[in-house]
Amino acid sequence: MSKVAIHNLGKYFGAPSTNAVPALQGVNLTVDEGEFVTLVGASGCGKSTLLRILAGLETHTSGSVECNGLPIEGPGADRAMVFQHYSLYPWLTVMQNIKFSRRLKVKRENLTSSDVEAASGRADALLDLIGLSKVADAYPNQLSGGMQQRVAIARALMGKPAMLLMDEPFGALDAQTREVMHDLILHIHRIEKTTIVFVTHDVDEAIYLGQRVVLMQPRPGRIHSIYPVHLPKARDQEMKHSSEFRVLKAEILARIRESSGMATDQELLDKLCRTEAIG
Ligand SMILES: Nc1ncnc2c1ncn2[C@@H]1O[C@H](COP(=O)(O)OP(=O)(O)OP(=O)(O)O)[C@@H](O)[C@H]1O
Ligand SMILES: [Mg+2]
Repeated sequence: MSKVAIHNLGKYFGAPSTNAVPALQGVNLTVDEGEFVTLVGASGCGKSTLLRILAGLETHTSGSVECNGLPIEGPGADRAMVFQHYSLYPWLTVMQNIKFSRRLKVKRENLTSSDVEAASGRADALLDLIGLSKVADAYPNQLSGGMQQRVAIARALMGKPAMLLMDEPFGALDAQTREVMHDLILHIHRIEKTTIVFVTHDVDEAIYLGQRVVLMQPRPGRIHSIYPVHLPKARDQEMKHSSEFRVLKAEILARIRESSGMATDQELLDKLCRTEAIG
């Protein structure tokens, strides 16, 4: 059974009026259990809106969206979200940040000692997984951006969500740190077997991480195409130089350029020359 089933999904912000353009229209997508799907597309094509609907943080206007065969009607412990900006609590240590979601879920007085032990064991294992055991007692402002985002991922994984929803989680990181994070998230995906839906602006990132790349288009926000990525499952940075990778990247970039409404350099040059001639 698919993990997520989206049928004919539509979303208007505010009251639908005759000339309002829907943020999403006629979106159909299924995501399999354990799959890693990436979403790309021009700015404003509805990537974040779709992700927020999956997280239950936003309602939809038409169609249906289900997780495990049940309609998504709000946030749930089975789905965790990671945002672009590190949303750590500055007054809590790394370890306390990772355990924080558990604190919200279960009132402290209701915890049995075995609950506390299991939570501590999982937090320790997650710290190991993200390679930050040595800084368990550090505060977020003592960490680099990449380290903070690793903590945010560990915190999202703490409640063992079946699905991880990531909205440009590495968008604020430098290129080298991003590459490290790519291999880390693939490692986490292998170990935790979490279903991941990952939004990005970066086509390299979308192809390197995704088993399928979903390309969206704006005005109205909709799915243009879905590209299966035929690269070996165990990725390695060298694959970015393969012809499969380069051909797919060129194809997706061309489609994004078409839909972003940006003219080519030659078109702009011709237009400028014509203006000059008239002046
Ligand atoms: N809260 C809101 N109220 C009104 N309109 C909104 C709201 N959130 C998003 N929109 C509109 O919905 C459309 C899709 O926005 P969304 O943020 O989902 O796009 P996106 O693909 O994530 O863009 P970006 O790549 O720039 O992050 C846009 O036209 C945007 O202006
Ligand atoms: Mg967005």
